[in-house]
Amino acid sequence: MTAPRMAPGPKGHWFWGSLRERRKESLHFLLRMHREYGPVAQWRMGPVNRVMSLVDPEHVRHVLVEQVGRYTKGLGAERLSPMLGNGLLTSDGDFWKRQRRLAQPAFHRERLVPLVQVMEEEGRRMLERWQARPDTSAPVDLAEEMARATVSIASRALFSTQVIGEANRVLPALTVAQQEVNGRVLSLLPLPLSIPSPGNLAFKRARATLDSVIFDIIARRRSGETTGQDLLAMLMEARDADTGESMTDAQLRDELMTLFIAGYETTANALSWTWTLLARHPEVEERARAEVAQVLGERVPGAEDVPRLRYLSQVLEESMRLHPPAWVLVRQAREDDVVDGIRIPADPRLVVAISPWVIHRQPELWPEPERFDPDRFSPERAAGRPRMAYLPFGAGQRLCIGTHFAMMEMVLILAQVLRRYRLRRVPGWTPVEEPLVALRPRGGVPMYLDPLPA
Ligand code: HEM
Repeated sequence: MTAPRMAPGPKGHWFWGSLRERRKESLHFLLRMHREYGPVAQWRMGPVNRVMSLVDPEHVRHVLVEQVGRYTKGLGAERLSPMLGNGLLTSDGDFWKRQRRLAQPAFHRERLVPLVQVMEEEGRRMLERWQARPDTSAPVDLAEEMARATVSIASRALFSTQVIGEANRVLPALTVAQQEVNGRVLSLLPLPLSIPSPGNLAFKRARATLDSVIFDIIARRRSGETTGQDLLAMLMEARDADTGESMTDAQLRDELMTLFIAGYETTANALSWTWTLLARHPEVEERARAEVAQVLGERVPGAEDVPRLRYLSQVLEESMRLHPPAWVLVRQAREDDVVDGIRIPADPRLVVAISPWVIHRQPELWPEPERFDPDRFSPERAAGRPRMAYLPFGAGQRLCIGTHFAMMEMVLILAQVLRRYRLRRVPGWTPVEEPLVALRPRGGVPMYLDPLPA
């Protein structure tokens, strides 16, 4: 038997490795690496850390499904945990398994049905806000609007309260916290939080604000001052099947913060990207609008309408193919592994990267990858495509717990807006991808809202 090989890749600068090229070329650097070095490519990021990126669906299956026990979330979780604690996204092993088992039932499709009303109401509120603008001819930042709507939906779904009602405190704190988390995730060597740098202090203040809001919500619920049939209630009632234990306040905080942040930002970004694509492809927009007219007419949408709005789902799927909000999944081998004769060492300085953004652009899997074509997701054309060719929600046991929640929410918002407005891009503006923790359009999405005749 031949010994496993090292993954191929550029030698790079003696100190920086490929860091400068990666920063300059952004995500296209990853595409180039795979074009030049094949399906497993490796490069250095600075003097110590290395990235090994995989794009072959079989290799992805190997890491995310078949050998999942050999991998942890590693560096990705380390950088996110100052904000998210030890919640579902960042935890590993038996603790993660137990928490996932406790939380899973709350996300079953049937349990989400009552949330359709919340989603619809928040969508309607957004439209009312648009209608009441003092200057209806001025462009609107769709990225901000989508974030407001998804924050409201996440907060009502999780704790039956309008956190946004505390807008003065919560939204700025979320923005600061996200900025700092983004900085930490991208930094080669983030400053330990114990060092009182301006960034660290701002982060801690923002986190303390969000913590106090969440702990207060938990305390009021425990004391019976508030009630609700929401995710908080389900998480509080959940009992471990083996030990009968329920979650402590600290665990509830970590899970709620995780669900809140994982839930709103990704969804807002997916919707923002979708608007940029629809504005560039009026024929797709018209077809989507026709479907809404046919399925809903002027009715208030219900849960049963979501699967009927099939083309809208396809539009969202294709939008997340081109711009997957979770543009990279990060893993670390806890024991040595081999994929396709290439060694993946258990080394904390090696990040195993699986990038949906790159995989979704492999021409063997997706002909004419840059073309926006929602029909790729028609049942006929989707049949036979490898499961791991499309990963906006990840795969395997760490698959996004909020997949149905997110699809429902996005279909409903899309339908409500399409029924009332045609969105037009501000001339001269083109979206630029900014791959932070989530892939977002840099500087927002300014658009004109043309009301449709009633
Ligand atoms: C378009 C919207 C969304 C996208 C693109 C998305 C994407 C993802 C991806 C790719 C993962 C897997 C990460 C990994 O394997 O490292 C994930 C995990 C997760 N997502 Fe989502 N997500 C979305 C919406 C939501 C929503 C609405 C919620 C909750 C309400 C949510 C909660 C979570 C949680 C808790 C995890 C961790 C699951 C675990 O490891 O057990 N996400 N998401």
